[in-house]
Amino acid sequence: MKQQWFVVVLLLVAAAAATEKQKSDKKHNKISEIEKKLDALLELEAELENEIIDAAKDEEEGDAEEEEAQDMQREDPKIYQIDVQEDPCAGVPCPAGRSCVVTMSGKGACQCVTACEEETDPRRRVCSNHNETWMTDCDLHRQRCLCEDGLAGCQDDKYKHLHIDYYGQCQQLPECEPEDLADFPRRMREWLFSVMRDMADRHILSAHYEKLEREAEDDETQKWSNAVVWKWCDLDGPPKDKVVSRHELFPLRAPLLTLEHCIAPFLDSCDPNDDHKITLKEWGVCLKLDEEDVADMDDLCEDIRDQEAKPVKKI
Ligand SMILES: *[C@@H]1O[C@H](CO)[C@@H](O)[C@H](O)[C@H]1NC(C)=O
Repeated sequence: MKQQWFVVVLLLVAAAAATEKQKSDKKHNKISEIEKKLDALLELEAELENEIIDAAKDEEEGDAEEEEAQDMQREDPKIYQIDVQEDPCAGVPCPAGRSCVVTMSGKGACQCVTACEEETDPRRRVCSNHNETWMTDCDLHRQRCLCEDGLAGCQDDKYKHLHIDYYGQCQQLPECEPEDLADFPRRMREWLFSVMRDMADRHILSAHYEKLEREAEDDETQKWSNAVVWKWCDLDGPPKDKVVSRHELFPLRAPLLTLEHCIAPFLDSCDPNDDHKITLKEWGVCLKLDEEDVADMDDLCEDIRDQEAKPVKKI
């Protein structure tokens, strides 16, 4: 669900930028800035999906079911390609770098992908947590898989923990200048609000978020806080545990890192106690909302979730 959601959002966001451009002249320079980011975001939608699955898998590491699947693989090295008709892989989502294969015993198991497509486009490259460039996200995730499973082709044991730091070739990221960082919360809020507005225009926000969006349109004081709440609620989950973990920030961080030099220090500043969890209040503070707004935000988000659990009648 989440992956699909992101794809939809990214597409819409791109369209948003186009509409925005026609709509408003005075925001012209801001919009072209946003558009640049969106182009990059669009290209990356596929990688995001993978990485989200990957992140989900990380959290499940040590999961008994998975171990079982791996044991099965070892006993049963002969594999068949999947038959779509009676597909034992149908209910088996594989993390990035793995694909489901049907074992002799007729079960689906996630095994390292055998090969990645040749890719010469430098835009497909990814920079790892070791500051090493990989040709594609597929190559990176495949390498990690080989190391996790102790297979031939694993280049170094450390690659068990390989992950994407950001999209694009590894590079000397320009320093985030203090004045840029200081301005970052404002730009982030603008961006969040324009994404939210566009989704509302297209009626792909839930009725309750649409209501928040209308409130934001009508009441200048609600403008930022509603967009900020919406994004936070969206980043959190599933499971909706009322904190946004570092993993959950991935969709925001990785695509923007090479374009927005301040995104990493900014997101770090949202987690001042460095527990790798961002509460809604921390999020609000770091987006520089008014203290009063921050104080109210918890309830607002809770409301939304409660209401969303029930079926909603669209007006
Ligand atoms: C990462 O690698 C790039 C390119 O090889 C280099 O320019 C940069 O300084 C490295 N960054 C760090 C933090 O080591």
